[in-house]
Amino acid sequence: MPQLSDPLVTDKIKLKNRIVMPPMANDMSGPDGKVTDRHLGHYRARAEAGVGLMIIEHSYVMPSGKMSVKQLGIHEDALVPGLKTLAETIRSAGAASAIQLNHAGANTTEEICGCQPVAPSDTPSPKQHAAPRPLETGEIDDIVDAFRQAARRALEAGFDAIEIHGAHGFLLNQFTSPYMNRRTDSYGGNLENRMRLPLAVIAAVRKETGPGYPLLYRFGASDFMQGGIALDEGQKIAPLLSGAGIDILDISGGLCGSRPKDFAGIQGFFVPMAESIKKVVDVPVIAVGGITDAIYANSVITDEKADLVAVGRALLKNPAWAREALETISGS
Ligand SMILES: Cc1cc2nc3c(=O)[nH]c(=O)nc-3n(C[C@H](O)[C@H](O)[C@H](O)COP(=O)(O)O)c2cc1C
Repeated sequence: MPQLSDPLVTDKIKLKNRIVMPPMANDMSGPDGKVTDRHLGHYRARAEAGVGLMIIEHSYVMPSGKMSVKQLGIHEDALVPGLKTLAETIRSAGAASAIQLNHAGANTTEEICGCQPVAPSDTPSPKQHAAPRPLETGEIDDIVDAFRQAARRALEAGFDAIEIHGAHGFLLNQFTSPYMNRRTDSYGGNLENRMRLPLAVIAAVRKETGPGYPLLYRFGASDFMQGGIALDEGQKIAPLLSGAGIDILDISGGLCGSRPKDFAGIQGFFVPMAESIKKVVDVPVIAVGGITDAIYANSVITDEKADLVAVGRALLKNPAWAREALETISGS
């Protein structure tokens, strides 16, 4: 029976323990999207204190997908040297690293991304009031290519893995969700069509990385929104993602964001959802949501509800959370 402190070893990645720092945007870049010294200090502190896998915050793959002014970028080659320093910093502090690739779709504004935000259809995101512009088919190909090029940069920078962002109401979630995707062409309608863009992105990223490199997908397994994806559909989508070559599924949810109000204060609020997804796939699953307590985090692993536990805000608050948690469970 594995514990939180035990390694997770697959044919593609070796993690020294089951503690994950999930991606958390912190607006530490300048408007150019570059890695700064603040990033290095922020990630180094948590890696040195024992996190097994650090997933770097969402980085935008092209300017139209930028969500906030000081967001980290991976959209041009000039950013690679800074990203390389970040990957090396984390490695030398003893953790494995992944970087999350994202396109915000409708979840941004013209002031930030420099154009009318784009999306599957003109339905406004529940978080933004302005109607987005539906993407033309040729533009969808450009987005797939932007993810591919971002993956190339992540490899050049030396990250140990890549995570594709398919949750929290951003572009790939917008395509998968019937709430946001009202297209009538081959990218909308039935599940096969709504999954066409996410699966094309996975295929393009995989082509760039080759078969032996670990790919994670942050999967919004439920939109928690009338008219969106519910968990029963999430359970149908998850095997499509692992079948397309995703090695680890990072289970989250919420078309309106990662922390739906109804779950405030609940320890492990997405753990039951991760457990339901784990039942339908063969790849490791990450559980997240309000986890602050080390004994609880360990029980998620020992009860086989998930293979890895992500601890977000508790790690922001206390960079030494992982070390203290490992001490707590070794003494329990
Ligand atoms: C400040 C902040 C920034 C976040 N940025 C991202 C992000 O870039 N990508 C992402 O997938 N989730 C993001 N999230 C969601 C977290 O990864 C995590 O899923 C969520 O906070 C729930 O975990 P927690 O309760 O342990 O904090 C962010 C959360 C916070 C608090």
